Amino acid sequence: MSKEQPDWMTQGLAHLWRPYTQMKTAAPPLAVARTEGSRIYLEDGRVLIDGIASWWTACHGYNHPAIRAAVEVQIETMPHVMFGGLVHRPAADLACRLSAFLPGDLQHVFLSDSGSVAVEVAIKMAVQYWLNQGIRGRTKCLAFKGAYHGDTFAAMAVCDPDEGMHAHFKGVLAEQIIADLPEDDEKLAAFETIVALHADRLAAIIVEPLVQGAGGMIFHEAHVLRRLRAIADKYDLLLIFDEIFTGFGRTGSMFACEEAQVVPDIVTLSKALTGGTMALAATVARRKIFEAFLSDDPVHALMHGPTFMANALACAAANASLDLFAAEPRLAQVAAISRALAQGLEPCRGRKNVRDVRVKGAIGVVELDEMTDLDALKGRFIEKGVFVRPFGRIIYLTPAFTIAETDLACLTEAIVKVVG
Ligand SMILES: Cc1ncc(COP(=O)(O)O)c(C=O)c1O
Repeated sequence: MSKEQPDWMTQGLAHLWRPYTQMKTAAPPLAVARTEGSRIYLEDGRVLIDGIASWWTACHGYNHPAIRAAVEVQIETMPHVMFGGLVHRPAADLACRLSAFLPGDLQHVFLSDSGSVAVEVAIKMAVQYWLNQGIRGRTKCLAFKGAYHGDTFAAMAVCDPDEGMHAHFKGVLAEQIIADLPEDDEKLAAFETIVALHADRLAAIIVEPLVQGAGGMIFHEAHVLRRLRAIADKYDLLLIFDEIFTGFGRTGSMFACEEAQVVPDIVTLSKALTGGTMALAATVARRKIFEAFLSDDPVHALMHGPTFMANALACAAANASLDLFAAEPRLAQVAAISRALAQGLEPCRGRKNVRDVRVKGAIGVVELDEMTDLDALKGRFIEKGVFVRPFGRIIYLTPAFTIAETDLACLTEAIVKVVG
């Protein structure tokens, strides 16, 4: 086993711009040779148990043979064709299947290539929904403290403007209305006051349902979403659920909207949509939104069309991923992971510097009072043979739903040891 950096990495790192990284001070990244199941195989021979499933995408584990086979078949016939004026079966099938999975009349699917773009499209749909009806001025979104919706400009603007990772851009981004989630009656009254004040400027409320992910893995109850639905209806606002993190089983149900029994007007999906194999996202709208774009006036069309939208390989991967959800007991696996996370992380509770331990579905969180040396912490996990990516004050696990019990135990044990 050699810990020497491979040549391709030394050469490449001189040119690669890394994500969310202060490249002057950060430790070098780990060179990955291959992935399989819940394992990351490094170039130097080390093998890490993966606790993150590549930013919550690889829900069936890496290199699932069924997804690989579907992509191989697709690449033989058509890796990609533009979607303007053309359509293909993998996209058509996927749109039908997503419509069947989602509740109510969420049946109109716009496919794009990343979560942030799906959020941009959702906001654009919401704003244009009003414009197409001749109602001007309803251009703002109401978003929440703790929110994270992506890294493109409209998505950044609905992230928490003070505590979020884009706070540096305050004043540059379009200003939106930011509120506390209405978690109790008092907050509900304050929330309604804000909505009433701004209603005639608002196009939509946007929320990550049940779990605010990158903003700190903060959970809220389903009743909060029912309140949002009621307020949106009362003030005639659209309600957008950003299920890019929560969708496809992560919280314990297939979608958070299903668990909350709320039908939003627009849903965004990505991350686990292709089982973590390829870039694909969807913005799914209810019939009334779709119909507001049908007109004899070409200006009423949605002027959006990313070059790689509905990429055939990605759609084939997504269809194969949905087949796996149908054929294999994913939600039961999530329930088992949930129990194991709760049990495995419980010893952290009450430890010095531990503020909270919480679990929802296949999301396990240990929140610290403070995190001083993030890089050192990441290094300690690597030494223990696990890949865990703490951020802010949060150490969390979002493993593949197919992870072996023993591997999951290694992950929780590593966290208990490191926290202790
Ligand atoms: C809730 C939510 N929305 C949007 C995004 C952005 O997705 P992407 O990174 O694919 O642009 C993320 C990514 O973490 C997310 O968690």
